[in-house]
Amino acid sequence: MRPTQAPFPATRLRRTRQSPAIRGMVRQNTLTVDDFIWPIFVRSGEGIEEPIPSMPGVVRRSVDKVVEAAREAADLGIPAICIFPYTGLEDRTEDCAGAWDPENNANRAIRAIKQAVPELAIMTDVALDTYNINGHDGFVENGEIVNDRSVEALVKMALSQAEAGADIIGPSDMMDGRIGAIRQALEGAGHQNVMILSYAAKYASAFYGPFRDAVGASGALTGDKKTYQMDPANSDEALRLIERDLAEGADMVMVKPGLPYLDICRRVKDTFGAPTFAYQVSGEYAMIEAASANGWIDHDRVMMESLMAFKRAGCDGILTYFAPAAARLLAQRST
Ligand code: PBG
Repeated sequence: MRPTQAPFPATRLRRTRQSPAIRGMVRQNTLTVDDFIWPIFVRSGEGIEEPIPSMPGVVRRSVDKVVEAAREAADLGIPAICIFPYTGLEDRTEDCAGAWDPENNANRAIRAIKQAVPELAIMTDVALDTYNINGHDGFVENGEIVNDRSVEALVKMALSQAEAGADIIGPSDMMDGRIGAIRQALEGAGHQNVMILSYAAKYASAFYGPFRDAVGASGALTGDKKTYQMDPANSDEALRLIERDLAEGADMVMVKPGLPYLDICRRVKDTFGAPTFAYQVSGEYAMIEAASANGWIDHDRVMMESLMAFKRAGCDGILTYFAPAAARLLAQRST
């Protein structure tokens, strides 16, 4: 129930906006470095930081450079990073066996970071698209993205990540039943403390374009992901997916993309009260970078405003490529 307000002039809403001190006092939401998960891209080689043209300022790093980035993240106070592997067309296969290879670049990076920067939490990506010859998140049989056989592979992938030392498993594949299957496998293998942050409400979005360049999936992808990722026109279905994944053992849930789906974030938080994350995806990042490179918007202010929007919408945290830049700004402000 909303208490009634006195009419003007007894109520002047500008009174509480009159100075920085008063604005700070009445401010409802705050953004801190604790809110960030930083997605980074790993590739093979050594000493490599390879720019991604559609994501200015973001690079693919060899494992040694990923460790340096992890150190940087921890020094900035960023609590977690999320590792995505780049795989060239030549290394992609139909059986996706690279996905659960203990020696794949992602698993090598996890072990190296755990050794060098143990205080940093490591999140992973569970989906076949970064290894699949056709760029899909599950196996393709006669043109169909099959569910149950894909889940078996995803379980193997998740287990290999947990073995490597991952703290948070991030299934981004949108197959049915994978959260329960992964949870059961983790429990069975003695990984009781490994968390699952489910990409529960993930939409079939054109905002993922630059990410697919980053992981080498753009050239590989045949068709679209609409039979497993959500229709952008739906919102009730998002709640059913979140409810299902929580019931199967997800510790945290995610809405993806971010800014265009803040209504979903709010509904999810209000309905379930579970730890709720949003992914400010590659296309969102690219738009802000492009517009500010043209001098059309103020980069830092738009970056911080966009991140605050997630807090206002009820999110507990944000996966964002801006994490280090935003962390630096926040640190400057507090000194
Ligand atoms: C794939 C995956 C995608 C993203 C994260 N994991 C792309 C997709 O579903 O095609 C997108 C992230 C971004 O755009 O920043 N499983």
